[in-house]
Amino acid sequence: MNRIIIDTDPGVDDALAIAFALSSPLDVIGVSTVFGNSSVADSTQNALTIVDLLEKNTPVYAGARRPMNGKSKRASSHGKNGLGGLELKTNRTQQQAGAQKFIVEQLRSANEPIDIVAIGPATNIALILKNYPDVVAKIGQVVVMAGVIDAAGNITDKAEFNAYNDPLALQIVLSAPIRTVLIPADVCRKVVFTTDVFNRIRNEGMRDAMLKLTAAYITYYQQNDDFETFEGGVMYDLLAVAYILNPTLFTTINSEVRVNLDGGPDYGMTTLGDSKAGSLVARDVDASRVKGLFLATLNGTI
Ligand code: RIB
Ligand code: CA
Repeated sequence: MNRIIIDTDPGVDDALAIAFALSSPLDVIGVSTVFGNSSVADSTQNALTIVDLLEKNTPVYAGARRPMNGKSKRASSHGKNGLGGLELKTNRTQQQAGAQKFIVEQLRSANEPIDIVAIGPATNIALILKNYPDVVAKIGQVVVMAGVIDAAGNITDKAEFNAYNDPLALQIVLSAPIRTVLIPADVCRKVVFTTDVFNRIRNEGMRDAMLKLTAAYITYYQQNDDFETFEGGVMYDLLAVAYILNPTLFTTINSEVRVNLDGGPDYGMTTLGDSKAGSLVARDVDASRVKGLFLATLNGTI
């Protein structure tokens, strides 16, 4: 099964994505963190908490604390600590090496390609592509949750959160000579998670943690006027892991993806270009099969 690195800004949906990947047959060789839903320090602490919750020894490495250039903007849907209402203590500590050093060393020493699941601002990955071009050949694919196509943004009315928080980085990743798969927010919105889903997690401790993690986030979606009325929450990042586990759950097209860098009201907006060269872009998803795969994986019945 694929060897992967998860680059993340936990984040409620990031936490679910990490739990999903760690419960699956994927070989998660490490987690790198980035600013985004919270500071990179909190992202790192939250990643350590989730790895500990899953009782894994996956190493966690801290990455970029700010975008390559431009501004960053926090979301309010992840609660004050970034993990909703989940308050867990952990004695786990981050690795001394930084995220870039970890990822570059893993890629350089790899005998087979490594996939990267990028579910926060793409800063770490873009800096590696820019500063260490020799490792490009060792990347299997980068599956990126970012952007929104022909639909409203979620951090501004035009831009999706990860794209907005480092559009230059996203542009560098999506235009790099590697296989990139973009899972945009409009597709993620087709998969709405209600508490009923988390109530079906068999392990009592995990079920309790996932319910605590997601309760306030789901309420935010149900109450927030900026989104269509959802009966649950959109767990964006989890779809990037679902793609790696089973790409057939998604309908994709080949397309160039343009990222607006102009600093105006369209800053961070993502649109499909004219060329078919660029990325695989998800345009549809089998929502019930994604939810079924998530539950089967967490329940160990996959
Ligand atoms: O727009 C959704 C993305 O922004 C997800 O990665 C979520 O965790 C937030 O970071
Ligand atoms: Ca995220």
